[in-house]
Amino acid sequence: MQKRWAGVFTEATHPLVEKFTESISFDWRLFRQDIEGSIAHAEMLAHCHLITQEEKDALIAALQAIREKFEKGEIPFRQELEDIHLHVEQALVEQLGDLGGKLHTARSRNDQVATDLRLWTREAIDQLDRSLVSLQKAFLNRCDRDFEVILPAYTHLRRAQAVLAPHYWLAYCERFQRDRERLADCRRRVNRCPLGAAAIAGTSLPIDRFFVAEKLGFNEVIVNSIDATCDRDFLVEFAFCMGLIALHLSGWAEEWILWSTSEFRFLRLPDAFCTGSSIMPQKRNPDVLELVRGKCGRVLGCVQALMTLLKGLPLGYHRDLQEDKPLVFDAFDTVSACLEVAAAVVPQGELDRQGIEKQLEEGYLDATSLMEYLIRRGIPQRNAHAMVGRLVRRAIDSNRRLAELSLEEFQSESPDIGSDVYGVLGVRNAIAQMRSYGSTAPEEVSKQIQLWKARLGVST
Ligand code: ARG
Repeated sequence: MQKRWAGVFTEATHPLVEKFTESISFDWRLFRQDIEGSIAHAEMLAHCHLITQEEKDALIAALQAIREKFEKGEIPFRQELEDIHLHVEQALVEQLGDLGGKLHTARSRNDQVATDLRLWTREAIDQLDRSLVSLQKAFLNRCDRDFEVILPAYTHLRRAQAVLAPHYWLAYCERFQRDRERLADCRRRVNRCPLGAAAIAGTSLPIDRFFVAEKLGFNEVIVNSIDATCDRDFLVEFAFCMGLIALHLSGWAEEWILWSTSEFRFLRLPDAFCTGSSIMPQKRNPDVLELVRGKCGRVLGCVQALMTLLKGLPLGYHRDLQEDKPLVFDAFDTVSACLEVAAAVVPQGELDRQGIEKQLEEGYLDATSLMEYLIRRGIPQRNAHAMVGRLVRRAIDSNRRLAELSLEEFQSESPDIGSDVYGVLGVRNAIAQMRSYGSTAPEEVSKQIQLWKARLGVST
């Protein structure tokens, strides 16, 4: 077969080169965007009288038919046709003869692939946003059912203070909200149109770049034709956004893996999301969560690989840029799959109320509550901290809780301590004492739950 670009060549391409340089094995995924871009381009060519209305209509009808064929898998991928752009064009020429060869007027694969990728990324962002909302809702929908459950919150993976379970769930909603904000911001820079930049310098033909940009729903035209063809910043940004989503998912997975161990006993993972061992019959392993954690590595790798790919490139299109697609496709598929699985697991992990309760009064989660009691009595924080430290030491040495110390023992530290001290001890009292904005105080958490329900459009 004669290649589109073979005019100047005197020798056929080596078969090794065809195999080595092809991208159809992965960029077939851009067929919808490629055809969408081509339809808009044909409309623009007609609008600018570079083709007739009849030619435009024939081109568009053929492109639509080709799209259908792609959808049905009726277009075989051929290595010698390199990429998705040449596959579409070849199909067009097979249908329309010479007319098919007019579509590439005032266009290069350089601005074409940049356009396709931006269209694809825009859709990918919208899809991820929907998946993030589903996951946020999965956390939010647990809040009422788990409202009464008190969990130890950890710092340094040491028991720190008691919190309401929904306080944890909403912390995840916040993280994923920031991921959504980042995607929305990234989308602004994705949604700009490179089409019409042609190979690098623009074109001498009277095209209308604004017309085609509007047809494709872009909100801006990328001005500089050199920049338009080779800017992949938007992909790096998108990869970074996905990296942070994966990182958040990985942290959650790790937390739930820990929580579901018999050492923690906070959570029971549903059987449907666990797998067994081929040798140890008792095992119920958290493989799904482990894979969420593990797959995060690939996504973070995408950010690194993309930046490395771009770091040595002068301005203009280079074939290196073809390597951007498998990276981003893989990261997107991975993050999408992790989000889907997470949204399915989150509603089903059952908090083990007994397991949690059993150890809840261990670990002096109420020590800070006692310290703040002293502060409210006018004792400087530093002194209060030291006093409570000594009281905790006394309790540890005699294997008691703070609430089990006698009033005399408390007063040996400070005569300011009254019998009302018992009202701030124990995790329930400690939580009831909370009042600051955004704290785990029950009223604060309730308010936040209402706010999130309104934000995500969940009925109360
Ligand atoms: N398959 C190529 C890519 O993914 C399309 C652009 C090729 N352009 C070129 N001048 N060879 O980047």
